[in-house]
Amino acid sequence: MKNLTIEISGQPSHYDIVFEETLVSLDKSLKAQIKRRNYLVVTDRNIYEKSPFFRLNDFKNHLLVLPPGESEKKWETVVKILDKAFELDLDRQSVFVAISGGVYGDMVGFASAVFMRGVPFIQVPTSLLAMVDSSVGGKTGFDCAQGKNLIGAFHQPEKVLCAADFLKTLPHEELKNGFCEMVKHGIVADEIHFKSLESMPSLTVKTIMPLIRDSIAIKQKIVEQDEKEAGIRGYLNLGHTFGHAIEQLSDFKIPHGQAVAMGCVMAAEFAYKKEISSAELVAVIRAIFEKFEIGVDCEFSQTAIFKAMRHDKKKKDGHIRLILPEAIGRVRYYEMADEL
Ligand SMILES: NC(=O)c1ccc[n+]([C@@H]2O[C@H](COP(=O)([O-])OP(=O)(O)OC[C@H]3O[C@@H](n4cnc5c(N)ncnc54)[C@H](O)[C@@H]3O)[C@@H](O)[C@H]2O)c1
Repeated sequence: MKNLTIEISGQPSHYDIVFEETLVSLDKSLKAQIKRRNYLVVTDRNIYEKSPFFRLNDFKNHLLVLPPGESEKKWETVVKILDKAFELDLDRQSVFVAISGGVYGDMVGFASAVFMRGVPFIQVPTSLLAMVDSSVGGKTGFDCAQGKNLIGAFHQPEKVLCAADFLKTLPHEELKNGFCEMVKHGIVADEIHFKSLESMPSLTVKTIMPLIRDSIAIKQKIVEQDEKEAGIRGYLNLGHTFGHAIEQLSDFKIPHGQAVAMGCVMAAEFAYKKEISSAELVAVIRAIFEKFEIGVDCEFSQTAIFKAMRHDKKKKDGHIRLILPEAIGRVRYYEMADEL
């Protein structure tokens, strides 16, 4: 698979997303990328126990294995990562590596952004969601009592090493989560991608693998135009304002990707109510998720969701900014005024 390069305005000015055929070639590339630098590798316990990758390379005492899950995405975990970096005597020439899904990818990215005012980091995404979305674009951070991802920094990785072979141990529910973000990419910017996803006979590692690069390329194009989310990058938040509220209300029992799917359907319904889109669009968006057994109806009332949305980052002049779909491949901003 041909690699992708992301061009950005800051430092680094560009970085590559390298597609690795096997975990063995990934290991080789990772060693070459770390070179002679001191380093810290972070992963979560599920990945450490399930993925054969750590049988190839155990990284000795440079490896930190932490508990999995969104509930771990907090300041206290970032401190554990920073403490380990100090224990290993990392300095400004060192490198952080996240071999993980989006939860640790975001936190290791943040830790590397603040450690000694910023050191390089490498993303090795292991979940589908991390491959197509969170490992690309440099958004890092963690959750706090007031909401999801409310504390963070933009810090671009120096490289993303993507090996779809990691997906062989990923639970099916997690494959669904990544698929939801891929569908979101299609709704936001690419009808052909949406249709390719829609026409898959089933959702498996084999059917999704050929579409991973296309999905990343959609994000790449958007991030290149708007690295710090001053404009169109915000479109990628389709479904996220509703989705973050749903995740929070469910006490994170509803995972991120599936909350985004619910959020995409809610955004489509809202757009229809505001006469921005059609009932057909709602049906098409609902149908793609339901085809692959992804539930899109949640138990929370609209009032509860709107209340939880108040802390969302995507505000402008005190108003919540929603992203609403007008058609497959086209979205727009909508500022909520009196709905809250
Ligand atoms: N930075 C961004 O731009 C961005 C974009 C989208 C989402 N996110 C964030 O990403 C997070 C969600 O990411 P996620 O869905 O990857 O969650 P995650 O990191 O919790 O991974 C999901 C689950 O899959 C397991 N897992 C991951 N890879 C595995 C593998 N290869 N084999 C076996 N098990 C594996 C993990 O242990 C975990 O239980 C959220 O916190 C969200 O806010 C960030």
